[in-house]
Amino acid sequence: MNLIEEIVTHARNTYLAGDFPHIVEVVAYARRLARTTGADEEIVTIAAYFHDISRGTMGPEEHNVRSAEMAREWLSQRGYPAERIERVAAAIVAHMRPTTGPEREPLAIESRILYDADKISRAQGIGLLGALVRLGQQTSWEELGYAHLAAAIQEGRNVTEEAYHTLYTDAARELAGPGYLRTVEFCDQLLELEVFKAAAGH
Ligand SMILES: [Fe+2]
Ligand SMILES: [Fe+2]
Repeated sequence: MNLIEEIVTHARNTYLAGDFPHIVEVVAYARRLARTTGADEEIVTIAAYFHDISRGTMGPEEHNVRSAEMAREWLSQRGYPAERIERVAAAIVAHMRPTTGPEREPLAIESRILYDADKISRAQGIGLLGALVRLGQQTSWEELGYAHLAAAIQEGRNVTEEAYHTLYTDAARELAGPGYLRTVEFCDQLLELEVFKAAAGH
């Protein structure tokens, strides 16, 4: 078994089953973006497999730092070169929030790509679905009104905008562009419906 095959097995055994499609998706986008930008494909692939790995057992809080730690430990046990481990870990640490200010410029291409691969679905409509699911969890069917629905659509639109506008690479913006525009237009069309205007008027 080569290293990547071993990582796939490790990831399958460690992530919650429900989280795994996201991991497969991030790996696929990360590889594709690495090929377009000339980034190190092995570094981004490994970082993508490990990036959320602590979440199932330790929760979402600081999961970037914890997942980077788990990747470091696992990779060093297998004799992976220390310099490459640090590049993997740096990408994992940087994936949670966009880096802003003076630290943005020197951010390695592999770190930019992992962030972009992680956010690219959110920029194309998954963020809207997430907002609607959260509304469903917070509000019972009986008390659900059009004003709630409008607020959730607006929130979904904001999440979509934020995800798209924080992407680092042109390659990711190009991939996400059509889905981003469709999602924002869809939200705007919904919010133009009379039923939402009537709900806002009350
Ligand atoms: Fe994450
Ligand atoms: Fe993720």
